[in-house]
Amino acid sequence: LEVGATRVRAGFENALRTAVQTGRLRPQTRLPSTRALAVDLGIARNTVAEAYAQLVAEGWLTARTGSGTWVSDRVPGARPARRAGPTGPPRLRYDLTPGTPDISSFPRTVWAAAARRALAHAPSEAFGYGDERGGSTLRQELASYLARARGVRADPVNIVICAGFIEGLGIITRALKNRGATVVTIEEAGHRLHRDVIADAGMRIRTTPVDADGAHVDRLGDSGAVVLTPAHQFPYGVPLAPERRRAVVRWAAEQAAVVVEDDYDGEFRYDRQAIGALQTLGPDHVIYAGTVSKTLAPGVRLGWLVVPPRLVADVLAAKRVCGGPHGAIDQLTLAELIRSGAYDRHIRQRRLVYRRRREHLATSLRRRAPAVRISGMAAGLHAVLTLPAHLTEQAVVVKAATAGVAIAALGDHHHGRRRPGPAGVVVSYATPPDHDYSRAIARLCAALADLGC
Ligand SMILES: Cc1ncc(COP(=O)(O)O)c(C=O)c1O
Repeated sequence: LEVGATRVRAGFENALRTAVQTGRLRPQTRLPSTRALAVDLGIARNTVAEAYAQLVAEGWLTARTGSGTWVSDRVPGARPARRAGPTGPPRLRYDLTPGTPDISSFPRTVWAAAARRALAHAPSEAFGYGDERGGSTLRQELASYLARARGVRADPVNIVICAGFIEGLGIITRALKNRGATVVTIEEAGHRLHRDVIADAGMRIRTTPVDADGAHVDRLGDSGAVVLTPAHQFPYGVPLAPERRRAVVRWAAEQAAVVVEDDYDGEFRYDRQAIGALQTLGPDHVIYAGTVSKTLAPGVRLGWLVVPPRLVADVLAAKRVCGGPHGAIDQLTLAELIRSGAYDRHIRQRRLVYRRRREHLATSLRRRAPAVRISGMAAGLHAVLTLPAHLTEQAVVVKAATAGVAIAALGDHHHGRRRPGPAGVVVSYATPPDHDYSRAIARLCAALADLGC
């Protein structure tokens, strides 16, 4: 539901009424509790309760004592919910595939307040084409944020703002190609789109194996770059071992190559072992990349590269032909969010929520599907479930889908032709919103238990 910043009560009530009238919320749909929805939408609980009461009075909703609020059975013009029949495709109600945080937790009110303050104080020059690296206010805030939160050695002049890691990777690949590189090595398991971006730039791709110590870095040879997820390998979830961190930086220095550090979820670490950025070991050989896609929401499309000084001009040349600087207003808003401390507070709050969710997932699996082994959960927003020998990844993905839950096969995140190790699936514990989370996990566990896990 879209709720405006002003006249919240009327806006929320109208949006809810429209959703019921148009059939987007179907008859017999159970609405979230007033508390859960208020938290999800960032509005007062009373506002939700009053709107529910009004729509009950109008007949659009029904309140059943003890079992919550529902969309009424006989809403004029609305079609009843279609149940998935045995031949129809299952309705995927819960998306537990990795990649997205709980987007319902996006801090709308705090973001809007930061945008207002930022706009009120920004000089007119902030709205010109501006510095190709991105706004100086954001680059300054990021330099100190990254030093304190991730141990990154960043000077604002070496920071380049981009539209998330995907765009950043495209820019880096283009820049390296222009400098004469022809080969990029990636981890054998990873994000498909990353491989596609590199291949699309006309680079040859090599893969390097991943084990319990992270990616192998002993045979990188003449690659112009290696792309790694050192804090939390995607998707296996292991950190890159200390000796491999040192070795890969040594390799880059000796070969005049580059390590691209994809620190996509480095802010979310739950055990005591702090894993700082690899970049700190070799700021002249590592391009550090961060993003708000996990801390805030992927729709914001903001990320940053901390680039060794010798590569900045090439990276900017590549960025110039990829669309130039990022939107000034979002940059100013993020800078204000960091300056005011609200960004850190939001991350701290999300870390608590995700920690609780991860414990809930682990406990539920131990209880309901003890044959499944869970790993990769010391950090990030997803876990790897290793399956017992009698099950294939596909069988589990299909069974979960039948129960309305989308999860990913480990094989889907594999670049190599042959995948080593036992079958597994990747499960996000960041989605769906709070009010639906335990139901989603209960369904997943029931599906696994049905399969003899
Ligand atoms: C391994 C990995 N890196 C980076 C990202 C973030 O990409 P972006 O910043 O373009 O949203 C993701 C998002 O799912 C990811 O899984």
